[in-house]
Amino acid sequence: MSYNLLKGKKGIIFGALDENSIAWKVAERAYKEKASFILTNTPAALRMGKIYELSHKTESMVVPADATSIIDLNILFDKALDHFGGKIDFLLHSIAMSINIRKGIPYTSINYEFLRKGWEISAVSYHKIMQTAWSKNAMNKWGSIVALTYVASKRSFSYYGDMSDYKSYLESITRNFGYHWGIKKKVRVNTVSQSPSVTKAAKSIKGFNQFFILSEKISPLGNASAEDCANYIITLFSDFTRKVTMQNLYHDGGFSKTGISETMIS
Ligand SMILES: NC(=O)c1ccc[n+]([C@@H]2O[C@H](COP(=O)([O-])OP(=O)(O)OC[C@H]3O[C@@H](n4cnc5c(N)ncnc54)[C@H](O)[C@@H]3O)[C@@H](O)[C@H]2O)c1
Repeated sequence: MSYNLLKGKKGIIFGALDENSIAWKVAERAYKEKASFILTNTPAALRMGKIYELSHKTESMVVPADATSIIDLNILFDKALDHFGGKIDFLLHSIAMSINIRKGIPYTSINYEFLRKGWEISAVSYHKIMQTAWSKNAMNKWGSIVALTYVASKRSFSYYGDMSDYKSYLESITRNFGYHWGIKKKVRVNTVSQSPSVTKAAKSIKGFNQFFILSEKISPLGNASAEDCANYIITLFSDFTRKVTMQNLYHDGGFSKTGISETMIS
């Protein structure tokens, strides 16, 4: 069912790789809700993933961009402004990568060059995207900017490695840039702290499958799926959440507020 929640709204969606990606689900839902958007990902992801399948399905343009490259972001935003013939209403940052996790390097002996790269990709890119939009005055008043995060930014999850640190930084950028966007343009900036969902990024985490099951048991509502997450993000892009900003919003079936559940101990 469609509610036309995003009718007339234009956006850029970063991070759709394949049909499991959270960004993929957001794009599908945004399309149903009548939004127009550009899909973007790295040139390598464009080659390896299925983004053109999604662009075909959602009648959207694909523009390659490495979100750590200011040059690429400038080109992307220029193309978007030209393509839409005006400013943008929403941006989704659904990007993360830890080279240390991918290589199985424990937190206690992380490689600092990998740390820097992972931080650039997973956190600083959010600042770069917003700074590019800011410098080009690309956002419409009452626009909405959202990034994905995880509760390991606030509590220790041994398997989440240096990604926990990136997520803390990402949430901090949200508060600080969110302030300036609010003052300048009435644009809101938030992070959504999502349940574990089976995606390419998640599968690189050691022990993810066991944790997925445990998280399901702890959460009173059960894990939120990527589709659930997409539905929630659509509300954040809609006009019904105009005064929500600088927040880290938990979308996790109650996981973050639960200590020990009956299901866990029975
Ligand atoms: N899957 C989960 O369990 C879960 C839970 C909470 C939060 N998240 C977050 O959701 C977001 C999306 O991840 P996902 O789970 O959909 O996995 P995914 O692997 O489908 O998406 C990650 C995306 O990041 C893109 N990316 C990597 N480097 C990039 C760069 N330099 N420039 C632009 N894009 C780049 C990848 O190509 C990929 O499309 C991430 O921020 C992730 O941390 C995921």
